[in-house]
Amino acid sequence: MVALNSKSKVAVFISGRGSNLKALIKNSKLKRSKYKVSLVLSNKSNAKGLDFAKKNKIKNYFIEKKLSTFENRALKLIRIHKIQIICLAGFMRILSSNFIKKVSIPILNIHPSLLPKLKGLNTHERAIKAKYKFSGCTVHYVNEKLDSGKTIIQKKVKILKSDNPITLAKKILKLEHKAYAEALEKIV
Ligand code: GRF
Repeated sequence: MVALNSKSKVAVFISGRGSNLKALIKNSKLKRSKYKVSLVLSNKSNAKGLDFAKKNKIKNYFIEKKLSTFENRALKLIRIHKIQIICLAGFMRILSSNFIKKVSIPILNIHPSLLPKLKGLNTHERAIKAKYKFSGCTVHYVNEKLDSGKTIIQKKVKILKSDNPITLAKKILKLEHKAYAEALEKIV
C-alpha cells in the first residue's frame, strides 16, 4: 500500500477528547513510522481533538452533525487529500453502508473491549458487571455491522477486584494508545 519513500495518508474521525488521535499523531512523528495523519474530521464543533490537529498543523474540519452531510463532505475531502486509510477514534456515529462502500479505502476503529465480547457502549461497566477476569481493547476493520469487522490487534488487561469502570477505563485507554499505532503500522 505504501509507495517508496512516501507515508500512507491517514484521516482520523473524532467526536470528542481525541486522546487516541493524539497518540496516533505522536507515533507518526517517529522516523520509522509509515503513516502520516493528513486530515482530521469531527462531527462536534467543540471536540478537544480538533485542538491537537490545529497545534500540529493538520487540516481539520468540523462538519455538521447530520450524517448524510458529514459523509458527503468527508468523501470529497478524502479524495482531495488523497487519503488512503480512515481511523475512527472515539467517533460516535455509525457510518452508513453506502459510505463504507463508496469510500473504498480501509476504515479502522478502536473499541474498548475484547471483541466479540461487549460490542456497543458502556463496555467497562458491563465487563465488571459480568465479572469478566479480563478486558482490553480491539483495533478492527469497520464493516457494515457494528464492532464486527476483522480484528487487527487486541491488548488485554486483568480486571482487579478493586477496579471500577473509571479505573478500568484508564488502564484500557493507555493500552488503546499503543494498540492503535501498532495496528496502523502493521497494515500500512
Ligand atoms: C476510546 O475509549 C475508544 O475506544 C472509544 O471512545 C474512546 C475515545 O477516546 N471508541 P478518545 O477521544 O480517543 O480520547
